[in-house]
Amino acid sequence: MCGIIGYIGERNIIDVLLNGLTHLEYRGYDSAGVALFDNDKVVVIRSEGKLTNLIDKVKGKRFTGSVGIGHTRWATHGKPSNNNAHPHKAGDVVVVHNGIIENYLSLKKELIKKGHKFDSDTDTEIIAHLIEDYMLQGMDFLKGVKKALNRIDGSYALGIICEREPEMLIAARNESPLIVGVGKNEGFIASDIPALLPYTRDMIFLEDGDLAVITKERVEISNQDKDIKRKLVNISWNQLMAEKGGFKHFMLKEIFEQPRAVTDTIRGRLNKENGKVTFEDFPLSRGEIKKLSNIYIIACGTSYHAALVGKFIIESLARIPVMVDIASEFRYRDPIFSKNSLMIGISQSGETADTLGAIRETKKRGIKLLSITNVVNSSIARESDGVIYTYAGPEISVASTKAFSTQITVLLLIALFLAYHRTGFSDSFYMDIIKEFVKAPHFMETILKDVASIEKIARKYVNKKDFLYLGRGILFPIALEGALKLKELSYVHAEGYPAGEMKHGPIALIDEEMPVVILAPKGYLYEKIWSNIKEIQTRDGKLIAVAFEDDHNIDEVADDVIKVPKTIWPLMPLVFTLPLQLLAYYIADFKGTDVDQPRNLAKSVTVE
Ligand code: G6P
Repeated sequence: MCGIIGYIGERNIIDVLLNGLTHLEYRGYDSAGVALFDNDKVVVIRSEGKLTNLIDKVKGKRFTGSVGIGHTRWATHGKPSNNNAHPHKAGDVVVVHNGIIENYLSLKKELIKKGHKFDSDTDTEIIAHLIEDYMLQGMDFLKGVKKALNRIDGSYALGIICEREPEMLIAARNESPLIVGVGKNEGFIASDIPALLPYTRDMIFLEDGDLAVITKERVEISNQDKDIKRKLVNISWNQLMAEKGGFKHFMLKEIFEQPRAVTDTIRGRLNKENGKVTFEDFPLSRGEIKKLSNIYIIACGTSYHAALVGKFIIESLARIPVMVDIASEFRYRDPIFSKNSLMIGISQSGETADTLGAIRETKKRGIKLLSITNVVNSSIARESDGVIYTYAGPEISVASTKAFSTQITVLLLIALFLAYHRTGFSDSFYMDIIKEFVKAPHFMETILKDVASIEKIARKYVNKKDFLYLGRGILFPIALEGALKLKELSYVHAEGYPAGEMKHGPIALIDEEMPVVILAPKGYLYEKIWSNIKEIQTRDGKLIAVAFEDDHNIDEVADDVIKVPKTIWPLMPLVFTLPLQLLAYYIADFKGTDVDQPRNLAKSVTVE
């Protein structure tokens, strides 16, 4: 997730670009840059680190032109650095991009063969070179852009300018957000509404496949080469509402971002046709994968719960024993490693001190380390032999939501990858998983369409003092995560338990005051869960069940039921997590706690 801005008009252009980027910094902040005209030439200024570094660099400078673009980056391809910062320039063409180009490596090879020289490790730079290449063949700027867009696969929101066209700003969108702002004799583009609110409230929301040519006088939009009219929308939000995308809290916004985050994390890594998974940076060779005897996964907090899901999936699909540990415990044990072990560290921030400490202990023993993190070039990423990034984008709310879903997504990809290399894909079961896997974002969207029913349940239970969360098998870690979310956000005591263990202790707590959230997927250990349900009912416990949409029996026995789309077991964690996040969110919101920054907690815990 990055932020892009663009402007054409008579205002002080550098102020518009920097002000816009300030409002977009929440989308990424590892480097930033601008490109704008000055005396008929395009000047590109970029800076690693926070936006303030760029602001310092341009302080006091004045520019004569009336068109420019800017970018604030959240690295995906290529670590944060000056060279990898946007805008990227090739010949006369300058580009800012938010998204992921899937076929950039093959295009890059093709362009290098033709003599193009690349300055960065980004996927974005190929777009500038591709347009330049078409212009070198004699096409004009607009035609060059259209031709280039036909060649690229993946997601993009683009702002493009050209030294030969000082009165034109081009924008294009596919699966990444992009808005055009319309003013009097001026035009804007931005990834999000807040960047434009100081200047205009009239906005056009581009759709997939749209290409907009923006001049001072007009905005012309086409899609598949056909001219098209898009509605001009007047935005009435205030600035703070806009930064949260109209949601009351960042957490709710991030919950709603999960279908997009999971799609981005799968993108370019999973071939839907043959089931093949590819990673840019996996630390083991094919031979080493074949010899792998066991895997350790370490993490803290929510990432630890993702690790527990990972154990289930990897053991079942790839048949490799997996041990999961809480990082702060692991580092003070004396774990036994075989030389064919792999360590996986999971951390949203990549900076958690306990996880970092455990990783360092392992490295001393000569064990290969793979990290799963959301922050490019974070400490844990730097110390690993291989990294797989989750493409959740910056997570601002302290309680982790979209990072969790994308961690599970990566673990599922790893399980499929290992299974492929160890057993091959002879079993049609694997292909069934892949077919269902690509539907996961859609399942999530279905749940998000009916949050009102979850809000209603939350209101009913808002004054309860203790909650029990029960799940079995692959959903036990989700019960733990549901309970953690409630504790973190609403300061209500909640415990997650394997449902089968209820009879060995927690059953003593159950009475009419105790709500029990039970994860009950029909077709998966269902008879066992049903026994738990009966045991809870007999003791007058209040039952909130999360069940598949086709399960009508559960409506008869549970006090409240949250229905989710039916899916197969490896995908259940992704589907069952959302209702629990929402339940915790609404209970906390009704209680009036500080949802985005709960007391005593920190987003990244860099002390032991
Ligand atoms: C803190 C955060 C949690 C997070 C945990 C691990 O406790 O509040 O939301 O799950 O750290 O963080 P990491 O960045 O390593 O995933």
